[in-house]
Amino acid sequence: MREPSPGAAALKDVAPVPGVPKPDPILVVDGVVRHFGGLTAVDVEHLELQRGVITSLIGPNGAGKTTFFNLMTGFDIADEGAGTFDGQELRKVPAHKVAGYGMVRTFQLTKALTRLTVLENMKLGAHGQRGERILSALWPPAWRSQEQAIEERAEELLVRFKLDHMRDELGGTLSGGQRKLLEMARALMVEPMMVMLDEPMAGVNPALTQSLLEHVKDLPHHGMSVLFVEHDMDVVMDISDWVVVMGQGRIIAEGPPAAVAKDPAVIDAYLGADHGDESRFTPTPWPPESRAPEARP
Ligand SMILES: Nc1ncnc2c1ncn2[C@@H]1O[C@H](COP(=O)(O)OP(=O)(O)O)[C@@H](O)[C@H]1O
Ligand SMILES: [Mg+2]
Repeated sequence: MREPSPGAAALKDVAPVPGVPKPDPILVVDGVVRHFGGLTAVDVEHLELQRGVITSLIGPNGAGKTTFFNLMTGFDIADEGAGTFDGQELRKVPAHKVAGYGMVRTFQLTKALTRLTVLENMKLGAHGQRGERILSALWPPAWRSQEQAIEERAEELLVRFKLDHMRDELGGTLSGGQRKLLEMARALMVEPMMVMLDEPMAGVNPALTQSLLEHVKDLPHHGMSVLFVEHDMDVVMDISDWVVVMGQGRIIAEGPPAAVAKDPAVIDAYLGADHGDESRFTPTPWPPESRAPEARP
């Protein structure tokens, strides 16, 4: 078992009930609804995410996880409701402003820019996120020292993510897994309070998934909160301090990983794959123990 995140101890007396209040929530969601035509993709009555821990968001394909991410990070606008991030109102706040509040995300599909070098990709992560400061724009020495600070942070993160030997290579020459690492490192350029990761392991070579996971586990030890969408249940059980389960747009369960794995509502949602519309569900067996040992990575 992994070392729990610094904030995890505070969750030990929290009941595993959908919408339960947390002792120190960083993200609070209220009445968020998003329709696509006749389909209700997201309908979250109340959800709180504890600060300084890794919360995983799981659920069958089409459950609304990515839509929920988009709504929280300002990439999509809810039909109703919203939330607060670290006390700041999120209703109709655009993505760049949400990032400025300290909540950053990565995408399910990798976005590293292929025609920029690795270092340039990193520097781009610092710009246009928090917004340029007026003073430094008017006063070149301040601008230079800011550039220097950005470059130093980029170099530091490249070392931490073992990408420093690639700093002058074009983004396009990186492997899929290295791009994921770059995307994550780039998201950290703004020193976010919260990092939202949407299936960061998708398409990553198994040799790199472990290192990617170690970096995710490390984030709370650098003072960050994490929301992590992942469909591999072994990974979810290993990495999470808390698990939130979505089904058909709603929160159907939440709790510590072991409690959620035993929750009948969760087992139901996943077992639905065996008798029903299979295309809507991930093929991951549930509960994870049911997977044959030889099928484990
Ligand atoms: N832009 C969109 N237009 C119409 N339907 C969408 C759109 N985005 C998502 N959906 C639908 O909303 C539901 C939730 O999708 P999504 O949030 O991607 O689920 P998940 O990430 O959990 O797999 C699905 O039925 C999906 O087809
Ligand atoms: Mg998705």
